[in-house]
Amino acid sequence: MNNKYSAITGMKDILPAEVGQWQFVENTARDHFCAYNYQEIRTPLLEETDLFERGIGKETGVVKKEMYTFLDKSGDSITLRPEGTASVVRAYIEHHLDQQDPVTKLYYLGPMFRYERPQKGRFRQFHQIGCELIGPKSFAADVEVIAMLDHFVRMLGITAFRLEINSLGCLEATECRPTFLKKIRAYFETQATLCSECQKKREQNPLRILDCKNETCRAIAKTAPVILESLCSNCSTHFNGVKMGLESLKVPYTLNARIVRGLDYYDKTAFELISDDLGAQNAFAGGGRYSSLIPSMGGPMVPGIGFAIGMERLLLLLPKRPSVTSKKIYFAVMGETAQGMALELTTKLRAKGLLCDMDFDLKSLKSQMRRADKNGFTHVVILGDQEIANQKAPIKDLKKSTQEEVALDQLTDYFVSLRLAGEVS
Ligand code: HAM
Repeated sequence: MNNKYSAITGMKDILPAEVGQWQFVENTARDHFCAYNYQEIRTPLLEETDLFERGIGKETGVVKKEMYTFLDKSGDSITLRPEGTASVVRAYIEHHLDQQDPVTKLYYLGPMFRYERPQKGRFRQFHQIGCELIGPKSFAADVEVIAMLDHFVRMLGITAFRLEINSLGCLEATECRPTFLKKIRAYFETQATLCSECQKKREQNPLRILDCKNETCRAIAKTAPVILESLCSNCSTHFNGVKMGLESLKVPYTLNARIVRGLDYYDKTAFELISDDLGAQNAFAGGGRYSSLIPSMGGPMVPGIGFAIGMERLLLLLPKRPSVTSKKIYFAVMGETAQGMALELTTKLRAKGLLCDMDFDLKSLKSQMRRADKNGFTHVVILGDQEIANQKAPIKDLKKSTQEEVALDQLTDYFVSLRLAGEVS
């Protein structure tokens, strides 16, 4: 039969053989973030389109080109979330989480959707692990968030990466980002070879020219003025605090004055984790501070800071872990009576937390033994009419190639004691 269907371009199945790695990373993240007093939040995959347009910025590549947006049956425009921050902030405002505590620490895991050209480490459905720390203005919050991310990645055994940081200044002080925007606009005005799209961005949002993938625009952007030279004293003090805090926690970083991030909500601290082992898509995590996102969405005047890690890219860097040989029990059955007995016995063993499985198709004993071996079962209980009549069954230890006979009413105790001795899982 022809395989008629395959997964949609840029979206992939995560098969059982890979799921162990995903669960390992997700469980480590949960434990690690929990130690920093973060709580999980789960938001819907779909939101009103306007939330992302306003939150992320209409001029960003994500909103302009990459969103999966459609009208639902009532004619409302809805969008599959391209990132988590806007949704988390919406939930924070909607449920008045600020009224529970002035500091809110939230983390989330799950799929995001961006209509991008698929390539290594770039998908249309991808997964993020993200954190948002909402409330504090102090640079100490930035330090804690960045250090938590750095420690998490190192805990996973990933060391070949660098943390790059920058400050994007603020919009409040005229001598800060507004002055920088004037400078950078003036610089781009002298450049006649910018692509047609960037020429349009020049007036609207010149920062976005720095994201353009066009070779000529990239070369022009390389010599553009950098924001770090235009920070106001407040942003400069904040950024110095971040750098000193990271140094005192021994979190290595490099300054990269060209980080602007692809989403419009950032100000002050911005950062990325970069690995040269990833090819073109070399950023496997990114984040920063956002001071006006929450008020601009109708919430309280509080800032936030957070990051998101791209799971698929992180997994490309994860050292291969030795696969743990799980020990499991297989019931090879001969005949329907034995099968019925096996259903009862496996239920009892599973109630004790033992991993077991059985044959359903009444295949030959030989083929059942083959299946048990192929699937890594360590013990096989052989059950037929005779075993049931004698109330005893042979148990084969496939690893040791030994066999032992055990009374059926002793089976649970037998395997529980093997587990205590570390022989079965
Ligand atoms: P972002 O930089 O757009 O930030 O995405 C974070 C990470 O998601 C990237 O570093 C990358 O690893 C991964 N990623 C993005 N697009 C794709 C893709 N098409 N395929 C595979 N991986 C991808 C955010 O999303 C912000 N919400 C982060 C944040 C949280 N800032 C503050 N709080």
